[in-house]
Amino acid sequence: MNANRKRIVIAGGSGFIGTALAKELSANYEVVVLSRSPKLRADGVKEIEWDGEHIGEWIQFLNGAEAVVNVAGKNINCPHTPENVHELTASRVNSVNAVGAGIYHVAQPPKTWVQASAIGFYGSPGETICDENSPPGNDTLTEICRQWENAFAEAKMPKTRKVLIRIGFVLGRDGGALPVLAKLTKWFLGGRTGSGKQFISWIHISDLTRMIAEAVEREIFSGTFNAVGPNPVTNDDFMRELRYALHRPWSPPTPEWAVKFGARLMKSEPSLALAGVRVVPKRFFETGFQFRFSELSKAFENLYESA
Ligand SMILES: NC(=O)c1ccc[n+]([C@@H]2O[C@H](COP(=O)([O-])OP(=O)(O)OC[C@H]3O[C@@H](n4cnc5c(N)ncnc54)[C@H](OP(=O)(O)O)[C@@H]3O)[C@@H](O)[C@H]2O)c1
Repeated sequence: MNANRKRIVIAGGSGFIGTALAKELSANYEVVVLSRSPKLRADGVKEIEWDGEHIGEWIQFLNGAEAVVNVAGKNINCPHTPENVHELTASRVNSVNAVGAGIYHVAQPPKTWVQASAIGFYGSPGETICDENSPPGNDTLTEICRQWENAFAEAKMPKTRKVLIRIGFVLGRDGGALPVLAKLTKWFLGGRTGSGKQFISWIHISDLTRMIAEAVEREIFSGTFNAVGPNPVTNDDFMRELRYALHRPWSPPTPEWAVKFGARLMKSEPSLALAGVRVVPKRFFETGFQFRFSELSKAFENLYESA
């Protein structure tokens, strides 16, 4: 362990968000990633083995850490069969319980725990604008998020400041759902999806990693925050901007039956594309957080400037 630099532990940090976050934090911190299959890395980030369920040797890295950020969980992009929903939920709840038990067992608990959740918490309430006080929805994603958040709420730890971030649709070139949409768009399959009226509450990956860094560093962060950009758009507008960024001026709309058929072929879940929610980052506004990417066109310009 590095005696000079403060340490941040990222559970599930080998994935899309964790990799970008580790890069952002490495400039100022020693970063330790917890992974079920750790690899040797050349970027100075240390990967340590855990199983996402039980405490083990890995908890020594929590001892004296500045913060732990937990973004572990089975990827949501799979058919939401009962078996998969069980795994999606268990992988999240178990990882929260493991981190909580780890914090409980170390002599010097981390100062801050930033825990991921998702805006799926709000369900799909049409055009209604959701902030952090809005009620939960009543669909599968809501139920997964509810159990995930309950596990976090139940972890009582007086010495550790707890921050829950409900993450929106994260835009990055190297992971998440955007590369799939970009590939379809390049094949002239980037029309509006279903009615096109469902909202997409997006956030650029670099704004998300800065939000997490601020949540670690500033004591005013405590409780629940929507980690989304300030301007959610309809699917129709989102796909139009994506086509523009990728130089595909027009594509036919994709009707609901075709989304369902395509999702089966791609072993995905059609509701991820057909449902949506309009979420605002009310509490991040209140902290004075400065977004680098407030407009979707600028976010795409940044991600695809050489496309
Ligand atoms: N990307 C988005 O747009 C978005 C939106 C809303 C919410 N979120 C949430 O943010 C978190 C991170 O998202 P991401 O896009 O970075 O996901 P990701 O790329 O799939 O990474 C998640 C990581 O979790 C670990 N993991 C997978 N299954 C696990 C299990 N059963 N037990 C313990 N760990 C497991 C994996 O690490 P190892 O294989 O190395 O263990 C994986 O690298 C997720 O919880 C996701 O639901 C993401």
